[in-house]
Amino acid sequence: MPTIYEVLKKDHDSHREVLKRLDATSGDSPEREELYATMKQEVEAHTAAEEETFYATLMARPEGQEKARHSVSEHKEAVDLLGELDDTAFSSPGWLPRFRKLKEELEHHMDEEENEIFKRARKLIAEPEARELGEAFLERKQAEL
Ligand SMILES: [Fe+2]
Ligand SMILES: [Fe+2]
Repeated sequence: MPTIYEVLKKDHDSHREVLKRLDATSGDSPEREELYATMKQEVEAHTAAEEETFYATLMARPEGQEKARHSVSEHKEAVDLLGELDDTAFSSPGWLPRFRKLKEELEHHMDEEENEIFKRARKLIAEPEARELGEAFLERKQAEL
């Protein structure tokens, strides 16, 4: 069983890829519509499962609380930006600037998770538990999808 860090990193890499592909789409195209639906579903399931497993565990450790709270608030911002995009027509000139704001926030968030939060979590969560969390995350994410 991979650790939670390996499982999350793999998801992040696929999110980075779909964000990059979306950035290259234009107007009201089937490609934009399809990639956006995939990205939204993926990001929502990932953040929900991440909160229910990884961040719930980190939140229960006093030394992990601050980072966990920070991340959960960034998830809320991302979900709000997704809501704004939902209300914007694919053909609107406002779509791409809004999308790029979301893309930047998500990229910053994933980098921060990998570079700062995983580092802190590795000190607080023992290896066997990190593997259990990996499994729990995959189960939760599947249920969200
Ligand atoms: Fe996250
Ligand atoms: Fe994440």
